[in-house]
Amino acid sequence: MSDTVRITRTVRFSAAHRYHSDRLSDEENRRVFGKCNRPHGHGHDYRVDVGVVGPVDPVTGMVMNLADLDAVLKEHVVEPLDHGFLNYDVEHFASVVPTCENIALYVVDLITEPLEHFGIRLAGVRVWEGNDLYAEVDLEESGS
Ligand code: NI
Repeated sequence: MSDTVRITRTVRFSAAHRYHSDRLSDEENRRVFGKCNRPHGHGHDYRVDVGVVGPVDPVTGMVMNLADLDAVLKEHVVEPLDHGFLNYDVEHFASVVPTCENIALYVVDLITEPLEHFGIRLAGVRVWEGNDLYAEVDLEESGS
């Protein structure tokens, strides 16, 4: 019988962004990104679902202590991103368009190592931009 379980924790943050690529002309930016290219940006309430996977500890009954998981997510995701303008307040997004897709990849980068520190494997990240769009990085898909 398998003792491996995947759990998912949700955190939320609110942030502004603007879609603009330095690799495109101003006109191309307006054409590709439409209203999302407007110079002063706009905001979203983001939701981030973080999946971690591992064996259930026979003593605690947990895959990972939730207090530790919450601390990692607060320190590495919520605090740096909440109430910021992603393009200007987060160095990574000075040159990377802060789409839902790129935010999901960035969150994976932010938390992979801190979770490994606890001996925990990141299974996937889903970043919701509002209620009708999410981008997902599924790290179990490849069976690595
Ligand atoms: Ni937007």
